[in-house]
Amino acid sequence: MNGTRRWPRGATIGLSLIGAGVVIGVVFLALAVPSGGPLHPGGVGPAQLTPTALGQRIYTNGRDENGRVIPRSALMMFAGATCADCHGSDARGRTVNTMMGSFEAPDIRWSTLSQPMKGDNGAMEPAYDAASFGRALTQGLDTLGEALNPPMPRWQLTNVQVDALIAFLKTK
Ligand code: HEC
Repeated sequence: MNGTRRWPRGATIGLSLIGAGVVIGVVFLALAVPSGGPLHPGGVGPAQLTPTALGQRIYTNGRDENGRVIPRSALMMFAGATCADCHGSDARGRTVNTMMGSFEAPDIRWSTLSQPMKGDNGAMEPAYDAASFGRALTQGLDTLGEALNPPMPRWQLTNVQVDALIAFLKTK
């Protein structure tokens, strides 16, 4: 028996590939098209994050709306440190001990930052507002425009993320 194939072998493979492609395409569409109602009822999607929740995520995990690590420039030994690691999970500040010695990370609750405070030389420094807080985080400058000590990293944050951190620090 030497029956003729209705399709050359190559065509058969090609057809099954097309078939698989259609199946994958349909499954993909089914996943991509929302079936009505919120995609993330649990509030895990970026759009559902409240400012406070986003602020908490940045503060404790150093991650952004999409779960990506927020870029920063930091001393090598603190490359992976989060706000909470240094300023404490309660944001009240603490002494951070390292192999190279220890340093003080200050109280950064919003109730503290939004008050004028006594600086190193005893002179009063103005209170932080959203603009100077953002500048401290992104440029490492205090309210007088002086550089913060190097353990404090310089963070690449959007205004939305800075505002979210403020919202979170207001809860502390
Ligand atoms: C590796 C440790 C470290 C990490 C991580 C860190 N900080 Fe700091 N931060 C410091 C230190 C130390 C200072 C004090 C610098 C100084 O007094 O010159 C500081 C200062 C600050 C100040 C200025 C406070 C003031 O009194 O002028 C703010 C605001 C601040 N940090 C917020 C944050 C936030 C928000 C994060 C996370 C996004 C963060 N820090 C992450 C160590 C850290």
